[in-house]
Amino acid sequence: MSQSDLNPNASAYPTGTLVNPNTLFITGLHNAHAMETQAIQILSRQLDRLESYPDMAAQLRRHVAESEAQRARLDEVLATLEEKHSMLKDSVLGMVGNLMALAHVPAGDEVIKNTLANYAFEHFEIAAYETLIAMAEATGQTAGIAAFRTSLREEQAMAQWIHDHIGPTTLKFLALSEAGMKADR
Ligand SMILES: [Fe+2]
Repeated sequence: MSQSDLNPNASAYPTGTLVNPNTLFITGLHNAHAMETQAIQILSRQLDRLESYPDMAAQLRRHVAESEAQRARLDEVLATLEEKHSMLKDSVLGMVGNLMALAHVPAGDEVIKNTLANYAFEHFEIAAYETLIAMAEATGQTAGIAAFRTSLREEQAMAQWIHDHIGPTTLKFLALSEAGMKADR
């Protein structure tokens, strides 16, 4: 992974360019919006395929709904900043795409690969909301902070749920495999 993959603003703001913190904040909001769209698409695709893990399916379904609400919160903050969505840049998606590429490979252990990818993705989202909170505080644009904190808590709860289910999911995967039953997804 190159440095530019890690810096969502790398392509928009070449080295040495002076950047207004408010512009960075707006860019961060747009990136988070694109991130939530990506989350909704990825989890929905997993849900379409998941058959043997009903508890996980229920949790993914809940988090799709949460992600839709999180995206709506970002829309509200953007609306108060009177930003047009036409400037939406999906520069963050390069990194997210790398994280999630893992999840798209057909494999005999799809549920395990998705668990790893989802755990990584939730932490990406946690970092994104932490960044938005820090930027909002730094620029004095505090109107969205309560919304960001709500979304942050939801991401942390989802990350915790995934963490708590890594072991049980693995054991169920092994048991189903051993019994000759459908285990991969
Ligand atoms: Fe999210």
